[in-house]
Amino acid sequence: MAENILRLDDVTMQFGGVVAVNNLSLEVNKGEIVALIGPNGAGKTTAFNCITGVYEPTNGVVSFFGKPIVANHPRGKMKKTYAGENALKYTKLKTIDPTPDEITKLGIARTFQNIRLWKSMTVFDNVLTAKHMRAKQNVFSATLRISAAEERRMREETMALLEEQDLARYADDLATSLPYGLQRRLEIARALATEPQLLLLDEPAAGMNPQETQELGEFIVEIKNKYDLTIFMIEHHMDLVMQFSDRIYVIDFGKLICAGTPESVQADPRVIDAYLGVSEHE
Ligand SMILES: Nc1ncnc2c1ncn2[C@@H]1O[C@H](COP(=O)(O)OP(=O)(O)O)[C@@H](O)[C@H]1O
Ligand SMILES: [Mg+2]
Repeated sequence: MAENILRLDDVTMQFGGVVAVNNLSLEVNKGEIVALIGPNGAGKTTAFNCITGVYEPTNGVVSFFGKPIVANHPRGKMKKTYAGENALKYTKLKTIDPTPDEITKLGIARTFQNIRLWKSMTVFDNVLTAKHMRAKQNVFSATLRISAAEERRMREETMALLEEQDLARYADDLATSLPYGLQRRLEIARALATEPQLLLLDEPAAGMNPQETQELGEFIVEIKNKYDLTIFMIEHHMDLVMQFSDRIYVIDFGKLICAGTPESVQADPRVIDAYLGVSEHE
């Protein structure tokens, strides 16, 4: 049996009256590449934000290796205005509302649809700082300084990550001076620096041409194998999704409409409808 690494149970995110993610349940198993697809505004990024501590979901549970890491149910004013389902299902569970940093330290890293790098830092320092964030998880380094040997090791690992991404020669340049495609690579290097077990990629191929997209897909498989990762990615390039994912979840208007292998999802009329915005059965 495949080991379950990420699990969402009825995750719901309501903004005012808008239910952006609606009762979303899914699983990602260790070693898989799983894609989350759906039209613009379907709630994909919001789902990632609920997993990574950016938003506190209105309802539902996120588990990592079988242990709840995020949990909530409609509380306070939301009790009255909640428009999702299963309002009472999780009321007995203690609310868990982690910060993004805490999620990173658990072993979940991500990249963003709109690249987010530390703008005033060099390429090198973007990756090194991410390494430091991970190191602070250590009980001792919270009170003690990082030793010189440890610091040296981190600098070496940072350089190795940059070399792997063909970014070593830009080490001393400002992160924002890199061309767009290289900024995407740097963002992945920075995510890897936190030594994740699960890597979430939000539209990693956005703005890339077919050749770059193909290379990115191969690169994702390469780092997955090298670092023993599990990948959960949002992507619009269907060639990338179909070629490289083991399984696909499709959402529309925040709701899961279909899940399965690339072959089955591709052939599903609900998916075709959601993407083309037409329905022959209406
Ligand atoms: N912070 C927010 N406040 C209000 N509405 C939001 C917020 N974030 C996302 N939304 C809304 O949630 C819906 C889903 O957005 P998003 O998750 O970004 O979609 P996707 O990534 O699938 O394109 C959209 O209608 C969007 O306007
Ligand atoms: Mg998005």
